[in-house]
Amino acid sequence: MIQLLIRHARILLPDGQFLFGDVLLQDGKILEVASEIITPDPNILIDATGLTLLPGVIDPQVHFREPGLEHKEDLFTATCACAKGGVTSFLEMPNTHPLTITQRALDDKLHLAAQKCLVNYGFFIGATTDNLPDLLIANPTCGIKIFMGSAHGTLLVSREAELEPIFAKGTRLIAVHAEDQARIIQRRQEFHNITYPAIHSQIQDEKTALNATKLALKLSNKYQRRLHILHLSTGIEAEFLRKNKPHWVTAEVTPQHLLLNTEAYDRIGTLAQMNPPLRSPENNTILWQALLDGIIDFIATDHAPHTLEEKAKSYPNSPSGMPGVETSLPLMLTQTKLGHCSISQVANWMSTAVAKAYKIPNKGLIKPGYDADLVLVDLENYAPVQRKNLQTKCGWSPFEGWELTGWPIVTLVGGQIVYERGKLNTDVRGNSLKFE
Ligand code: DOR
Repeated sequence: MIQLLIRHARILLPDGQFLFGDVLLQDGKILEVASEIITPDPNILIDATGLTLLPGVIDPQVHFREPGLEHKEDLFTATCACAKGGVTSFLEMPNTHPLTITQRALDDKLHLAAQKCLVNYGFFIGATTDNLPDLLIANPTCGIKIFMGSAHGTLLVSREAELEPIFAKGTRLIAVHAEDQARIIQRRQEFHNITYPAIHSQIQDEKTALNATKLALKLSNKYQRRLHILHLSTGIEAEFLRKNKPHWVTAEVTPQHLLLNTEAYDRIGTLAQMNPPLRSPENNTILWQALLDGIIDFIATDHAPHTLEEKAKSYPNSPSGMPGVETSLPLMLTQTKLGHCSISQVANWMSTAVAKAYKIPNKGLIKPGYDADLVLVDLENYAPVQRKNLQTKCGWSPFEGWELTGWPIVTLVGGQIVYERGKLNTDVRGNSLKFE
């Protein structure tokens, strides 16, 4: 029996209130939460005076590059970054090499993850135009990922006739990267002679996103199929969902679509290039409102690292994507200091609501019986995002120089300390997530 006692923390309770007190962990679970816990001899004692205890972040959209693209990132480096960022579980995307489009590829990834991941892991199975039998039997998986646009090899299902059978058969969650591939191809030709990276936001414009979101919603309605819209990027999609979102549909937004916009291209060039692209500042405002109003359900980073060398290629040869797992929590907690949202909203968007949407049992709340995936953050000190402190193999962040608070001080995965005051415990291993 291993007991760990966290003392004198400001604990976020399931009802959104705070309790100043102690949390006792035993054998990977939360055993007790109380204002004072007297226990004879815990194995480990953490003094959390001045720190806030939150449920560990569950990041529901990441690209960790292994197998096949380990020069950008691998499951070990990515989960070191997770541990440092307070991310205790992640759901990973199928655009690795080989693509995760069969049970065999899923099994291989799970096997690698068990060996290399410092935090808990779950994986999507990717849809192609001819792997419906694989999609129906894949297990365990958090859901089916469909790239409706911005293809990765055969990971592209863009036409209604190809999408329809996937929505029609089976019941598991379908998560869509909603961009209209035909429109992207047409606009790429139109703007082919422009190499200034800001053109990316015009090529893959707002209508490109809206067209695909509308089509996914149409099919979801037709078959009453559980649908999740990944990285919502535009105000017009948010307003469309405000009027048309059935209760079985969820949507997410990334910190970068809330906090960055097209002005970033002037500052950081292709480091600001991602899919779906950054939008105008007005879109930031509408997305924030949709999140606050519950139209957008939760937050994902879409952590998509590329090397600086790859990013230094001129547009359109530069790859799309940016890292995010080790900055997402401090970025959002800094927003609480600015009065844009509350700490309990951040914990809901980054943990509780994700566990609920993906039906991950016993995670996302600080409650007896729940898994001891926790993060202690310091909301009183500010520190800048600096390249030298990053764990991600790609070694850069679009938020470099931003002064943030809410940096993780201690991260626990299954009751084990995986990160403490600048030090990683690389012996810790996460577990395979369950999806009910
Ligand atoms: O910008 C992006 N990059 N968006 C995605 O959806 C995929 C990702 C990647 O894997 O690089």
